[in-house]
Amino acid sequence: MYRDVSSCNTYNYGDALYWDARYIQEGGSFDWYQRYSALRPFVRNFIPLSSRILMVGCGNADLQMDVRDMSLFPDESFDGVIDKGTLDSLMCGTDAPISASQMLAEVCRLLKPGGTYILITYGDPTVRMPHLSRPVFNWKIMLYNIPRPGFQKPESSTPSRKSYLEPIPLSEKGLLPADFVLEDPDSHFIYVCKKINDTEIDTIPTYQLTADVL
Ligand SMILES: C[S@@+](CC[C@H](N)C(=O)[O-])C[C@H]1O[C@@H](n2cnc3c(N)ncnc32)[C@H](O)[C@@H]1O
Repeated sequence: MYRDVSSCNTYNYGDALYWDARYIQEGGSFDWYQRYSALRPFVRNFIPLSSRILMVGCGNADLQMDVRDMSLFPDESFDGVIDKGTLDSLMCGTDAPISASQMLAEVCRLLKPGGTYILITYGDPTVRMPHLSRPVFNWKIMLYNIPRPGFQKPESSTPSRKSYLEPIPLSEKGLLPADFVLEDPDSHFIYVCKKINDTEIDTIPTYQLTADVL
């Protein structure tokens, strides 16, 4: 199992006290990673409107709990769970693999069959797939990659690969294709993890994302 320290820098991202202090110090609210406009196609295409959605790790939320123990909620109570940077924070903590496993087990427990976990993260498949692809979760995983907001491609760069709404084909080992090039080295990966039943395994369609969703 990999320990992912790629985006931990020198801050204590894995420490709850760090976040408490930061939210008090900075106040207000701010967008981490991506704006909703960039994420909307993913949310709208994979999580039906009017469904129950849990956003984990929102520092200024009314309801605060540790994502490693969300026993306040009963099993299968959400259609979607959205995580922007929370697993990343846990991966900076001292017991990162254990914390990740606890959090993901809770996410899986809370999802209804057919529900979707959307993970927005700096972690590429080498550091995220070992956690996400555990057979016990039985998730069908699709991977996307989007540049950070405002990223400008260098003029000298070759024409871009397909739209960021196209899933990236994963290798048999769940890794990026050998010829995959990150246009933006600080881009974000989006893992769309659909909780399936055994009976669904062969019938899950390949999703075609569209940008024109509301
Ligand atoms: C990079 S910030 C992202 C915040 C928010 N998800 C967003 O997108 O704006 C990481 C968040 O993870 C939260 N976090 C870290 N460890 C947590 C834990 N064990 N349980 C719940 N939240 C946690 C922090 O409080 C912080 O709000």
